[in-house]
Amino acid sequence: MSCSTHTIYQPRIAVLEEIRQEIQDVKTFYWHFEDPQDQKEFRNFMPGQFAMVSVFGSGEIALSLPPSPTEERFFFTSRRVGKVTAAMHALQPGDRLGVRGPYGNGFPMKDYYGRNLIIVAGGIGLIPLRSVIIYALHNRGQYSKIQIFYGSRTPKELMYTQTLKEWMEDPGFECHLSVDKTDDTWKDNVGVVGTLFKKPGVVMPVDNTTVFVCGPPIMFRFVLADLKKMNFQDKDIVSTLERYVKCGVGKCGHCCIGMAYVCTDGPVFTLEQIHRLGEVI
Ligand SMILES: Cc1cc2nc3c(=O)[nH]c(=O)nc-3n(C[C@H](O)[C@H](O)[C@H](O)COP(=O)(O)OP(=O)(O)OC[C@H]3O[C@@H](n4cnc5c(N)ncnc54)[C@H](O)[C@@H]3O)c2cc1C
Ligand code: FES
Repeated sequence: MSCSTHTIYQPRIAVLEEIRQEIQDVKTFYWHFEDPQDQKEFRNFMPGQFAMVSVFGSGEIALSLPPSPTEERFFFTSRRVGKVTAAMHALQPGDRLGVRGPYGNGFPMKDYYGRNLIIVAGGIGLIPLRSVIIYALHNRGQYSKIQIFYGSRTPKELMYTQTLKEWMEDPGFECHLSVDKTDDTWKDNVGVVGTLFKKPGVVMPVDNTTVFVCGPPIMFRFVLADLKKMNFQDKDIVSTLERYVKCGVGKCGHCCIGMAYVCTDGPVFTLEQIHRLGEVI
């Protein structure tokens, strides 16, 4: 059946191909649509968009799209926190999911052409930003300097380790890693992610730069304080907001913040917009 017959609330059927344990309580689920037409149509998503994912018999949740649309395979990365994510983590290759989307505004990657991109992520905050990074690398000529700063609590909690290794070895951009607490395996920076900004040799351009920040609230606050000291402007800092998303399509009002719906006006907002919505960060 082609997706043109679907209503906005009707998921399309996806089949799980492979499941990888990313870090403790976090798994990556590779999947494809059963219907090749659905597979083709979904490919038009933008970094920062999300999907509504049905785990049959348990419920439906919002999950970001960590792949770039320029990549071949579709996948979600989900942290087990409650009922639906626990059921998702119990699935096996060959099992089916329902997928609606892509939804949300996404990062306007074409608006950033010619600009420097600074990506700052903490922990699983790398999930939505992975898509931004891969998209920028696959369109490398469109952007100026690209810098990635990624931190986790321990080396064992770094996400997408194979991809990180490739980024570290790529001469076309900078990738800096840090952990809060070290172990015997770790030879790199130790400290919160903002300590990387002061690493010898790191020069962060302020003019003509967009800074992407995603991570836990405490990391977000510290990073914003550092960026403010360096004179980055609120309009040049972008992030994603998370709220309980139910319908995903601007109908139910569950995700409302002030005058905005996270599911349709977001989840991507500039810091300037976040302040205007009255969000306290
Ligand atoms: C746009 C968007 C994109 C998202 N992308 C991802 C992703 O890529 N990977 C991922 O692991 N998670 C993501 N989430 C969060 C994910 O939707 C929730 O973790 C999921 O709905 C939890 O469902 P559950 O039934 O397992 O947990 P529940 O039983 O509903 O909740 C368990 C615990 O998690 C907390 N929680 C649940 N949902 C949220 C939420 N939206 N924000 C903050 N706390 C919450 C609850 O307060 C509770 O303490 C995203 C959320 C949004 C809105
Ligand atoms: S989740 Fe229903 S309006 Fe946003």
